[in-house]
Amino acid sequence: EQIRKGNFEHFMQKEIHEQPDSLTMTIRDHLKTIRRSRRILFIGCGTSYNAALAARPVVEEHSGIPVTMEIASDLLDRQGPIYREDTAIFVSQSGETAYTLEALEYAKSNGALCVGITNTVGSAIARGTHCGIHLNAGCEIGVASTKAYTSQIAVIVMLALALGVDSLSTQQRRNAIMDVLYNLPSKVRDVLKLDRDMKELAALLMEEQSLLVFGRGYNYATALECALKVKQVSLMHAEGIVAGDMKHGPLALVDETLRIIVIAIRDASLNKQQSVRQQLKARKGRLIVMCTEGDAEFMCLIEHCLQPMINIVPLQLLAYQLTVFRGFNVDQPRNLAKSVTTQ
Ligand code: AGP
Repeated sequence: EQIRKGNFEHFMQKEIHEQPDSLTMTIRDHLKTIRRSRRILFIGCGTSYNAALAARPVVEEHSGIPVTMEIASDLLDRQGPIYREDTAIFVSQSGETAYTLEALEYAKSNGALCVGITNTVGSAIARGTHCGIHLNAGCEIGVASTKAYTSQIAVIVMLALALGVDSLSTQQRRNAIMDVLYNLPSKVRDVLKLDRDMKELAALLMEEQSLLVFGRGYNYATALECALKVKQVSLMHAEGIVAGDMKHGPLALVDETLRIIVIAIRDASLNKQQSVRQQLKARKGRLIVMCTEGDAEFMCLIEHCLQPMINIVPLQLLAYQLTVFRGFNVDQPRNLAKSVTTQ
């Protein structure tokens, strides 16, 4: 619609007349609108959905606004309610995913403020949203999203801080998060040194049929994303499970043949995760426990809510090494496309 002349004779003429609208869009205080919204919805598919899930607790904590998560296709299937008072945030690396794009049209037609978080300037989602944030993560070629995932979480954390109230009571926590955010690249560089260990672990796991990944709290999304990466590229069955749900089904699978990764990083969920670990061990599950090196010291260095950006990295390496060992195509997994532009 934007590229038609409408009732004007020339584009220049049309664009001169558009300035009241274009200026309104430019100077509008979108942050203020988001702060006033009744609800924030994160909408995406696959890894982009997982990234938003990883950052949800930070948005809830700092904005104080209820946050709901929507897989784009499911939202459309249900025609879930969206209101004018909602802010819908569309997370998409490519900015072209068909379901996410259709969900955007749906949210717009319901009057919600639509925000895009994409890694592709000029993409359909970047163009179609009212405002947005560019990840600036650089071009991502591999079908399995990796660096876009951590950048998506970082951007949502920054958005959460921007939405929060900068008061005396919140200052210490906000500053701590900002400090850690700035140091994140060096922390990621540290965990990348685990490449060799992940290769050894992959050699151990390469013949397995199935892998369960238990996470909770800030690392619930890490478990989902690890399982998605493993199944997507190494073609091994993997399932990410929120550990609190263990006794409601997954525990039945556990025996001496099943490989299980338990993410038991030192954070607010550690005690509960230790108990999960014991119960899985009692059922003779073959556990690989992901824990914090030099616990106490590390605990002071990194805000718990930022750990998902660190913790996923060795698991990405594991998925990569598993794929190489199993002889599958790392960059172009079978049946999958980088950008899913059809439904
Ligand atoms: C992730 O490794 C996959 N490439 C896939 O799940 C992807 O995240 C999903 O298709 C969404 O893509 P988007 O971020 O480009 O919208």
